[in-house]
Amino acid sequence: MDNTFATPLLQAPLALGADFVVHSATKFIGGHSDLLLGAVVCRRPEDRARLVRRREVAGATPGALECFLALRGARTLALRLRQAQESAGELARRLAAHPAVGRVRYPGLPADPHHARAARQMRGFGAVLTFEVGNADTADAVCARVRVIAHATSVGGVESTIERRAKLPGQDHVPAGLLRISVGCEHVEDLWADLATALDATALDATAVDPIPHAPARQDTNAGNHP
Ligand SMILES: Cc1ncc(COP(=O)(O)O)c(C=O)c1O
Repeated sequence: MDNTFATPLLQAPLALGADFVVHSATKFIGGHSDLLLGAVVCRRPEDRARLVRRREVAGATPGALECFLALRGARTLALRLRQAQESAGELARRLAAHPAVGRVRYPGLPADPHHARAARQMRGFGAVLTFEVGNADTADAVCARVRVIAHATSVGGVESTIERRAKLPGQDHVPAGLLRISVGCEHVEDLWADLATALDATALDATAVDPIPHAPARQDTNAGNHP
């Protein structure tokens, strides 16, 4: 089972019956978007022996710097996660009430289809949520407008990130206007102001009627300012 989003603090898959658990330590465990490292945890000693042998043969031995960064990140994981998931819950509730937003998915919302299961088997609901806006163009415009939240793919860092998932290869099953946010440790009011400003400005643009027929497309002066 991939426990990357939950982290070992929020969910213990071995205790729930999993044989193997994988973590991308690149994400919440490292926590600062400067580490590439993964971990596999297993229940049976014979599986561990096979994994160690595989590591020897394949040469996937972690470097000293990666181990240092992962251990340093792990020391603040509880603090980071507490802040991030509190903000994620608040943002999910506010997004769900926003007129320009359709479906919001966050297991901490009582209406979420996975709320009951998450409440049963997790110690918290994590810091990743998704929400849908009208279409791909609207979603891209929101990504281009945010200033506090970084427009980037990765998750689990102290800085919040947003991305339109369907633009990635192999994500055709994801709704075109779906945005994923990984909530970081910024002040929740800064995050909400950023999101609300981007959503409101995008909604305003969508309803604006250009009085000049065939006027040249508006230049997005924000384009290119994002990672
Ligand atoms: C849930 C999840 N698991 C695993 C991975 C893979 O992590 P890595 O990039 O460290 O190989 C990712 C990467 O995005 C992820 O989101």
